Amino acid sequence: MEFDDVIHTRRSVHQYSDADIDDETLYDLFEDVRFTPSSFNLQPWEFLVVRGEDLERLQSVAYGQKHVTDAAAAVVVLGTLDPGDHAERVTRDLLEKGYLPDEEAAEVRLDTVDGLADADTETRRVWTVQSCTLAAMSRMYAAWGRDVASCPMGGFDADALHEAFDVPADYEPVVIVTLGYPADGAADLERPRKFRRPTEEFVHFDDFDPVARESPTPADD
Ligand SMILES: Cc1cc2nc3c(=O)[nH]c(=O)nc-3n(C[C@H](O)[C@H](O)[C@H](O)COP(=O)(O)O)c2cc1C
Repeated sequence: MEFDDVIHTRRSVHQYSDADIDDETLYDLFEDVRFTPSSFNLQPWEFLVVRGEDLERLQSVAYGQKHVTDAAAAVVVLGTLDPGDHAERVTRDLLEKGYLPDEEAAEVRLDTVDGLADADTETRRVWTVQSCTLAAMSRMYAAWGRDVASCPMGGFDADALHEAFDVPADYEPVVIVTLGYPADGAADLERPRKFRRPTEEFVHFDDFDPVARESPTPADD
């Protein structure tokens, strides 16, 4: 599928066929995810692939959302809260390939990452969610390019997910993505596209002047 088609025809799909996604196809999707950009190139993502009966456990932490068990697989995108996890390898690579001029620059970079690692939890959460969210999107496009439909899900209880899947506290559950071949008609392009805000409404050239808000701003309260 052409990339333009991938973007324009992707839908969040809730109904999946009974067909499994073979391991090779599933694995290939992650090969594509490798090329997602990330903050400092630190690649803070981990992907927990849930299949078979384990999907019921995932469904229970996702407020019972039906499509979790209808899917062939679901991927829990987990973001490390420790920016130092891969910093040494990433920085050495930058130095070897000439992206950093010298050892001193590499040390400066590692110190910057150390500084981030010492930041409060909220700062590290934002840091990891930014990159992991992009990885999740890469994954959904990679999937749809191979006819595998998906649905991103933020509706889950993160504490319950930690417990149900033994996820250590220093990994943030960012998003769940269900995956599967769509059931007949579930990704039907004949169905009207859900509302999208017009481009000119949210693009602000030169000055930021937001318009068309439906709810009062906090300052109006
Ligand atoms: C961060 C995020 C969280 C979402 N959470 C859920 C969810 O919990 N359950 C669900 O069915 N869809 C969820 N969605 C899917 C949206 O409802 C869907 O993307 C939106 O309605 C637009 O539809 P489309 O993706 O088909 O264009 C989520 C999407 C995003 C980006």
